[in-house]
Amino acid sequence: GVLHAGDRLLFSPSGHAAGVRSIEAWSALAPPISAEAGESTAIVLDEDIFVERGEVVSHAVEAPTLTNVFRARMFWLGRRALKPGSELILRIGTARHRATLAAIDRVVDSKSLASREAAEISRDDCAEVVLRTQGLVALDEARNNPRLGRFVLVDDYRTAGGGTISMEGYPDQRELVTVRSTNVALTKSHLDRAARWNRNGHKGGVLWLTGLSGAGKSTLALGVERRLFEAGIQVYVLDGDNVRHGLTANLGFSPEDRAENVRRVGEVAALFADAGVLALAALISPYRADRARARRAAERVLGAGGFLEVYVRADLATCEARDPKGLYRRARAGEIPDFTGVAAPYEEPERPDLALDTAARTVEDCVDAVLRRIDLAFGPVR
Ligand code: ADX
Repeated sequence: GVLHAGDRLLFSPSGHAAGVRSIEAWSALAPPISAEAGESTAIVLDEDIFVERGEVVSHAVEAPTLTNVFRARMFWLGRRALKPGSELILRIGTARHRATLAAIDRVVDSKSLASREAAEISRDDCAEVVLRTQGLVALDEARNNPRLGRFVLVDDYRTAGGGTISMEGYPDQRELVTVRSTNVALTKSHLDRAARWNRNGHKGGVLWLTGLSGAGKSTLALGVERRLFEAGIQVYVLDGDNVRHGLTANLGFSPEDRAENVRRVGEVAALFADAGVLALAALISPYRADRARARRAAERVLGAGGFLEVYVRADLATCEARDPKGLYRRARAGEIPDFTGVAAPYEEPERPDLALDTAARTVEDCVDAVLRRIDLAFGPVR
C-alpha cells in the first residue's frame, strides 16, 4: 500500500494511534508526500507516543491480527526435541516474543511426507502445531501476507526453526481490545456496592463454568442456582444457550463470534455481581484469552477473588455418548462444521479455581463441591 502525509496510523500490538505529520527522505528537495511498500522511509508523527521496537505500523483498516495463540506449520532444526510446554523465542518481523509450544497436531516425516500423531518434534521434523505467546502479537496469516505470516524460532540463542501462520479456529482478538466509544465518562452511583451487598447479606460474585458441550455446565449451574436460592442467596444463571436467544442472538460460532459472546456475558456477569447478585455463567467459552478477559471484567468491579473459574470436565467420548441435544451426532455427520471438540478447539483451563470430573462423580456430588468452593470464596452460604 501507500502511506500519505496526513494519514492516521495504528501501531500494533500496543494499539497506539497517531497521524503522519510529514514523511522524510534523505537529500530530497521537498519532503515527499507519500511512501510506497518496499521503500525505506522515515515519518514524523503529530503526537508523542511511546512505541516499542517490533511494533507493526498500519492503517486502521486491514490492521494485522492480534492474538496470543495461532496454528503453524513449522520445521525444526534444534538439537533438543520439542514437547508441549517447551518454551522458545518467536520472531515475527522485528518483534521478539516468548512463546510456548501448546500442542502438536501432527508431525510430517520429511522423507516420506507421511504424517503421524507424535508426542514430540525431533530435529529435521516438520510439524503442525499450536503456539501460544505471553502477550498479544501482531501477525497475519501466511496466505494473506507472507511477510507477517512467517516466523523464526530461536532456541538457546540460535535460529532453530521457522514456519508459517494460520489462524484457523482462533479469533482475531483485535475487536475485543479496541475501544470505539469516545466522549464518554463514568457516572457514579449514589449507592455503593457495600450497601447493596449488606442488604443482601452476601457479596456479589461471578462463578464461571467452562467445558465442552455436554460436559454438564447447565445441569450444574441449575443445581447450584436452586440450592443457593433456597439458602436465600440472590443468584442468576447466564446460560450460553439462553443468552444466545437475546443478548448474543446476533452471534454465531466463528472464533470471533464466540469471543464476543463470552465478552458480553463476562461484562453482564460483572454488572450482576456489582448489583449484589451471584452470577453463574455456563458457557463453553473455549478460549483461554476470553475467560481471562471475563475474569478481568469481574475483578475490575469486585477486586481479586470475585471470580471463580470452574472447569466442568468430561472427556470427549463421555460428552459424545451423552449427546443431550444430538449435536455431536450431527457434527460427526458434517452438518455442524465448527462444533467444539469435533472441529473447533477447546482450550482447557490451566489453573481453574475448581475442576470437576462429571464423568466420575454424581451431579449432587459436583453441586456440593461447587457450593463448598463458593463458601470458601464468598463467605458461608446461609
Ligand atoms: S461459546 O463457544 O460461545 O461459549 P455457548 O456456550 O454460548 O458457546 O453455546 C454453546 C451451545 O450452542 C451448545 O450447548 C450447543 O447447544 C450450541 N451450539 C450450536 N452450534 C455449536 C457449535 N458449532 N459449537 C458448539 N456449540 C454449538
